[in-house]
Amino acid sequence: PIPVILDVDTGVDDAVAITLAARCRSIKLLGLVASFGNRPLHYTLRNTLWLKELLALEVPVCKGAASPLCQPDHPEPEDSEHIFHGKEGMGNAVPPPSLATAPDSDDPVAFLADLLEKSEEPVALVPVGPLTNLARLVTARPDLIPKIRVISLMGGAAKGGNVTPYSEVNIYNDPEAAATVFACGAPIIMCGLDCTRDCYLTDGERAQLRQTHRDPLSQILCDGLEGYAASNARFGENCVVHDALAVGCLAYPELLHTSPYYVDICLTPGEHRGQTVVDWEGATGRAANVQVGLRADRDLFVWLVQKSFEGAF
Ligand code: BDR
Ligand code: CA
Repeated sequence: PIPVILDVDTGVDDAVAITLAARCRSIKLLGLVASFGNRPLHYTLRNTLWLKELLALEVPVCKGAASPLCQPDHPEPEDSEHIFHGKEGMGNAVPPPSLATAPDSDDPVAFLADLLEKSEEPVALVPVGPLTNLARLVTARPDLIPKIRVISLMGGAAKGGNVTPYSEVNIYNDPEAAATVFACGAPIIMCGLDCTRDCYLTDGERAQLRQTHRDPLSQILCDGLEGYAASNARFGENCVVHDALAVGCLAYPELLHTSPYYVDICLTPGEHRGQTVVDWEGATGRAANVQVGLRADRDLFVWLVQKSFEGAF
């Protein structure tokens, strides 16, 4: 199995990604880092720990970044009206008032470095929220970059964003961090909106998941997906389970069609800030630094989600 560390801002689609990583036998989950993103850190960390309990996972969890590298005031306020994942981040699922599980660390650089150092094999890092924790790691510990097998990230968009016309929200939430990670020299697979938009669940597929799987975790994920689907529908979007693609494509490379390009991050203020600028024609003369995901196999993706609801596979 491929050793994997997930960096999440849990989040409904993050929760499905954690479930897939925990249950796919081609993946060995080493740890989870929680970041601000979909909601403030206290919610995303709590949701991550909740998933750990629901899945009976025996992996450590780290409390990660609460804000971006350069804009401490940036995260969405508590009362934001643009909450896709619901007030507490889990759609219509209601998290318990308290959890028995606590984070194992609040130092993401030390946590990630320790897991990388202990692993005999290079590790796949899967960030599906802002890239703040990873940027800190590659800056503080460039000696560990050779231990990164690949960074399979959910973020960016070669064409068209979701938070501005050009920018995808995970990159937009910390563009400076994204620029650091994209330039770090580790192999990168970018699961951006171009391919994650292929990875949606229809109303019928969600109803079938709910009917078929009666266990508490499945029901919680289905409740989460219903709230999230309703938010997406208000913006004319499908129920896109973005984050699970960045996990799934490691175990099933045929899930994703990619091409190598040089990709840079726009840092200037305005609606291009946070854009993943893809050098389609090689105009910069720079070598490709990213395998850009261009489309995904929806049938295989839906099968993977269904299998992960069933149990280990
Ligand atoms: C990304 O933003 C969040 O809503 C999702 O969890 C996903 O990581 C999609 O743009
Ligand atoms: Ca996410």
